[in-house]
Amino acid sequence: MKISINNLNFSYNGSFALKDINEHIETGEFTAFVGPNGSGKSTLLKCIDRILIPSKGEILFNDQNIKYYKREKIAKIIAYVPQNEGNIYPVTVFDAVLIGRKPYVNWAPSKNDFDKTAEVIEKLDLGDISLNEINKLSGGQRQRVYIARALAQEPKVLLLDEPTANLDLRHQLEVLELLQVLSENGITIIIAIHDLNMAIKFCSKFVMINEGEIFATGGKEIITSGNIEQLYGVKVKIIKEDGEMIIIPLNNKHKKISLAI
Ligand SMILES: Nc1ncnc2c1ncn2[C@@H]1O[C@H](COP(=O)(O)OP(=O)(O)OP(=O)(O)O)[C@@H](O)[C@H]1O
Ligand SMILES: [Mg+2]
Repeated sequence: MKISINNLNFSYNGSFALKDINEHIETGEFTAFVGPNGSGKSTLLKCIDRILIPSKGEILFNDQNIKYYKREKIAKIIAYVPQNEGNIYPVTVFDAVLIGRKPYVNWAPSKNDFDKTAEVIEKLDLGDISLNEINKLSGGQRQRVYIARALAQEPKVLLLDEPTANLDLRHQLEVLELLQVLSENGITIIIAIHDLNMAIKFCSKFVMINEGEIFATGGKEIITSGNIEQLYGVKVKIIKEDGEMIIIPLNNKHKKISLAI
């Protein structure tokens, strides 16, 4: 499913968070929203999922405005994994993932709903803890449960806000590899991510956001030391190893933090 964002603006109580955003994302693209803290990545993801309603502009999915769709219909199209999800009810991992099937369930889950739930639990390496209570898991385990729940929705568009932030290295790679495979199978995926090296390893498109505006958008060609320096105010060196780009931050000389008391 392709996504078109046209002239989108969003304000929190009168102070703008997103300004004149225009972006087009093709079906099956694996897109990274990158940019400094507070630049508007999460706000844009929430606008795409219609958790937040833009003050101006529109978002089209396959050229259709889903503005008037009911929540259950949107949930069959878009799944969203937030940056921070507070504690939820003390349910098991299995039940938490089963909740992802809600848009498809009439009054009781079917065998297909249970099978789909078991399938994504396996995929996200949660089999061993599927009967554990979700509130008693580590941050990274819980993150994988939320991703599994989103996949159980069988969405056409998957939005994930810093999906790897709490994960150990192996699970970061596994989750991003899985997302890459899903995008190759036609699911449109957008993640907000701070780790630029992970982003360039897996994503096909990059949207650099700065102070609520799009600073640059495109493929790997926009990941330049000049763009990174302007975006973050940090000097970096980009090297190539086995054909892959690697970003190395250099010492940040323009800001000295004084530790003197
Ligand atoms: N609920 C809110 N009420 C008021 N202002 C908000 C709210 N949420 C975010 N903002 C403001 O909107 C701007 C964009 O925030 P947003 O959370 O989208 O940034 P972000 O790029 O996701 O940052 P981070 O990398 O820290 O997650 C920031 O200035 C933030 O302070
Ligand atoms: Mg955020």
